[in-house]
Amino acid sequence: MKLLSLNLGLLASIGAQICTAAEADNSSYYNPVLPGWHSDPSCTRVDDTFYCVTSTFISFPGLPIYASKDLINWRLISHAWNRGAQLPGVSWDTDEQQQGMYAATIRHRDGEFFVICEYLGVPGGIIGVVFRTTDPFSDESWSDPVRFATDRIDPDLFWDDDGKVYVATQGILLQEFDLETGQLSQPPVSIWNGTGGVWPEGAHIYKRDGWYYVMIAEGGTATDHAITIARAKDIWGPYDPYENNPILTNRGTDQYFQTVGHGDLFTDTYGNWWGLCLATRSGPEYKHYPMGREAVLFPATWQEGEWPILQPVRGEMSGWPLPIETRDVPGDGPFNDDADAYEFNADSAIPKHFVYWRVPREGSFSTTDAGLEIVPSRNNLTGIPFSKTHIELSGQRGLSFIGRRQTHTLFHFSVDVLFSPEEVGQEAGVTVFLTQLNHIDIGLVLLDSGLSLRFRATGTNEDETPEPKIVPVPEDWTDAPVRLHIHAENSETYRLAVSQGCKKPITIATASSALVSGGSGSFVGSLLGAYATCNGAGSGVQCPDGGVPTFQRWRYRPIAQFIAEDEAVPAEDD
Ligand SMILES: *[C@@H]1O[C@H](CO)[C@@H](O)[C@H](O)[C@H]1NC(C)=O
Ligand SMILES: *[C@@H]1O[C@H](CO)[C@@H](O)[C@H](O)[C@H]1NC(C)=O
Ligand SMILES: *[C@@H]1O[C@H](CO)[C@@H](O)[C@H](O)[C@H]1NC(C)=O
Repeated sequence: MKLLSLNLGLLASIGAQICTAAEADNSSYYNPVLPGWHSDPSCTRVDDTFYCVTSTFISFPGLPIYASKDLINWRLISHAWNRGAQLPGVSWDTDEQQQGMYAATIRHRDGEFFVICEYLGVPGGIIGVVFRTTDPFSDESWSDPVRFATDRIDPDLFWDDDGKVYVATQGILLQEFDLETGQLSQPPVSIWNGTGGVWPEGAHIYKRDGWYYVMIAEGGTATDHAITIARAKDIWGPYDPYENNPILTNRGTDQYFQTVGHGDLFTDTYGNWWGLCLATRSGPEYKHYPMGREAVLFPATWQEGEWPILQPVRGEMSGWPLPIETRDVPGDGPFNDDADAYEFNADSAIPKHFVYWRVPREGSFSTTDAGLEIVPSRNNLTGIPFSKTHIELSGQRGLSFIGRRQTHTLFHFSVDVLFSPEEVGQEAGVTVFLTQLNHIDIGLVLLDSGLSLRFRATGTNEDETPEPKIVPVPEDWTDAPVRLHIHAENSETYRLAVSQGCKKPITIATASSALVSGGSGSFVGSLLGAYATCNGAGSGVQCPDGGVPTFQRWRYRPIAQFIAEDEAVPAEDD
């Protein structure tokens, strides 16, 4: 464990904008601009607003759309995949932890937004989907998808000047596309294999100055990840690779930001180029990165007839003048790095940035005057994943878990739980959840020995997995709500504690963030949330009666963001 020398005071006094005389016109900012799990960003600009979509795998709602006018403050405005009925039955048919909605592309054309994506992991193979809307600020307005058949991931959507539409997929394969019917021209044409890295994918096609550019990710999404580019005079090729590839990577470096790759480029209203791509704040050790793949912003220059030059990804960046800082963006979702402070009542909506693991079972989550009520699932947070014989314990019939992304290196998450279990096994708690196989939990559970506080963690690396701990509820505690706390007190450790009223919190355990880094969730990132289960008691999908907790006073307090292994920026809300 490293000693961290935090430069908090100094950075706090400078604030978000740092200008030196030599770069008076340029701006400085910190990465990641979309902290927390935001993999495979694709972005576009319409007038003065930038829009991005990121990948979400089996979490639901999926394909969040973020909007910003200044490239720094991003508001969650909708999810393209927000109703189970858009793809009936598909979510519950997905058995693996990292299937579902892979990398998407967002584009705008003639007043309409298009999100093209692919859903993996269902019998019958990959389902290609195109969601459309004229109002990306509204969930309801996103269409049911037009489906298409493909066996390669990461679709790009490109319109040529003559109005023809093309889809490029992993490979890189190109096909002409009919947006109304989902028909793709056959056979797919291989246009470029990249520069030799594994998995050439995540392609985006841009047309500039008479050239077709295909910019891709290759090297896999771990520490060899990179962005490379090729160009051709004809969309079908031949494509010539750029001699100075890769144009963006942190591979082979000791940078804190690793896995840099899978990006998209766009211009601002001044005509300056920018891009977003994914990165992981792990350092080359690649051991502690509970937030997974996050979205970072980089400036680019792209002279006429020339290749684009992308600025290397760092925690502190300097580049083109940013648009004037503003949170004047329509929509009712929070900005991505906001704090949470929710008192739920019967009229509360479930906050827009809360997500489930697959489409939830109807009626499992509701708001009442007592708080957010969660009807337990027989499936606990692990259950029996992939089970074909006990599908109701696999997580594929609703998992009673709801969470929000961990968006800061250091934070304090806490929530009151009111819980009166009647049957042994009934449990309610909070968790740092990466997947059903990688999570760290603290809850109240009724055991044969009585009502207890239980810490449990599960990771895919046995050495790292701590023993469970069971502590009886202190004798002087009453029936009043119990407060459950998860505190990231440094970049590598979570502290799990409980308290009641004004009594001093009791630490039940600490756990390494390596438990929720990579493992079975190398594509996803940690969520912080609440769960309820009866741990397999009952039958079918029904738990024994009772044991329904309500969660109240939900707080997520950002503390600081690490931008280097030994450098932290305090959160504005702190
Ligand atoms: C890419 O590699 C495949 C398999 O070796 C080959 O069939 C294809 O022609 C290559 N594509 C290009 C554009 O070179
Ligand atoms: C401003 O930023 C752009 C884009 O990163 C860069 O090319 C240019 O050199 C910078 N100008 C100065 C004066 O630093
Ligand atoms: C979690 O659920 C599985 C499947 O029902 C069960 O085998 C396991 O014992 C449960 N874990 C606990 C701690 O009860």
